Amino acid sequence: MPPTRPSIDLTAGALADHLCAAIADHTARVTVIGQGYVGLSVAAAAAAAGMHTTGVDLDAGRIESLSAGQQVVAGVDDELFAEAFTTGRMSFSTDPSVVAGSDVVLICVPTPLIDHRPDLAAVEGAGFAVGEHLQPGTVVILESTTYPGTTEQILQPLLEGHGRKAGHDVLLAYSPERINPGDTAHGFAGVPRVVGGLTPACTQAAAAFYGQLVGIVHEVSSCRAAELAKLLENTFRLVNIALVNELAQLCADQGIDTWEVIEAAATKPFGFMPFYPGPGVGGHCIPLDPAYLTWQSRRDTGRPFRLVEMAKDINDQMPIYTARRIMDSLNERGCAVNGARLLALGVTYKPDVGDVRESAAIQVLAQLDAWGADLSFHDPFVDEIDEHGVRLHRRELTEDLVRSADAVLLLTPHATYDLEALADQAGLLFDARNATGMRDRPNVEVL
Ligand SMILES: NC(=O)c1ccc[n+]([C@@H]2O[C@H](COP(=O)([O-])OP(=O)(O)OC[C@H]3O[C@@H](n4cnc5c(N)ncnc54)[C@H](O)[C@@H]3O)[C@@H](O)[C@H]2O)c1
Repeated sequence: MPPTRPSIDLTAGALADHLCAAIADHTARVTVIGQGYVGLSVAAAAAAAGMHTTGVDLDAGRIESLSAGQQVVAGVDDELFAEAFTTGRMSFSTDPSVVAGSDVVLICVPTPLIDHRPDLAAVEGAGFAVGEHLQPGTVVILESTTYPGTTEQILQPLLEGHGRKAGHDVLLAYSPERINPGDTAHGFAGVPRVVGGLTPACTQAAAAFYGQLVGIVHEVSSCRAAELAKLLENTFRLVNIALVNELAQLCADQGIDTWEVIEAAATKPFGFMPFYPGPGVGGHCIPLDPAYLTWQSRRDTGRPFRLVEMAKDINDQMPIYTARRIMDSLNERGCAVNGARLLALGVTYKPDVGDVRESAAIQVLAQLDAWGADLSFHDPFVDEIDEHGVRLHRRELTEDLVRSADAVLLLTPHATYDLEALADQAGLLFDARNATGMRDRPNVEVL
């Protein structure tokens, strides 16, 4: 059994001060429930910052690998993990009773959608496990993406009982993870943290913790404000991407170059931020998180959140639209899509990450497959595809393969692709994201 920290009989304000002092002198002990992309990243950051940290996960295999110093979670910064692991301050366990000896407990578990409805089973499971072992004097912080009210309505009751009361002898806050996978320009420490607690003392303690890990901590007045801030960020992207995706369709009909229009608008130094069209929105954040908002709006007010629902609908149509544009491009060259040899390059949801969740590229391939295309693919991060009825093994990317294709489909332009060579060698290069910037070439078609 881990050591149990003695309980502290203090007011909430004094308790927050006590925690802040322990965090500042790095004697605070941290437990992170959920060792996925989000949980392992914050656990490594806490250990690297000087705090003894235990990562807890239900997945015994993952815990075994991490305990042996093997970084097995896709997308987590290998250098940060290695730095944290070598300090000796990082350990891993499948046993949530380590919570009993912790000053700071983070919950970073999945919050998927099932049938377009939030599934908070993992938050409930983690909350229950934490509640079983929680000691007075601890701050608990939820990081999972969710709808406003989750921290107070779902998590808080699981932490209370046994004489404990959140906001009094246990502190509770919400702080969304905002990492952008694959974005080396914005590392963990460089992304400001939004923190909102149940009470000012809760916010104070949680903000002190993140103050050790990142440059800027932005405090808000409640857990709900912090929860909604995260959903606003991702909904903002969803809506703006839908805007340019619909604009791209209008431009194609009108014979106007979408990319030229966006580049021109982006010269305005205020009031405009460029977004770019593509074959659809993928990953497990942007397509999913806004659904928390639309679901909650319908549940609590009976009203649809119209703009967001429409944006999702527009983006969801993009894989089919992209497949149609590919079919048109082939048709203009006298080639039927049925039987056409199509080589897809890049099938992950965005460049330079190995994640195929909700990948629009694979949905494009599913449509082309349904039309009878003879498909092959290459992606440096993906060995095989087995989704939406598409089953393919990666081909080696050779000049012969490129030259023998009726069309090369640049769906997700990873940095390793030599775009100049592809444009020289391909009979038709369909560039779904204008990565080549070569839309003037007769053999290059851009979405
Ligand atoms: N991945 C991202 O880019 C990202 C960015 C921002 C926010 N988020 C959000 O953060 C949350 C976590 O995302 P993730 O990508 O790290 O998820 P993940 O699926 O990669 O990892 C979650 C981990 O939690 C573990 N787990 C589930 N229930 C548990 C329990 N009761 N006790 C211990 N471990 C448990 C799972 O075994 C898994 O290893 C989600 O709400 C997600 O939406 C993710």
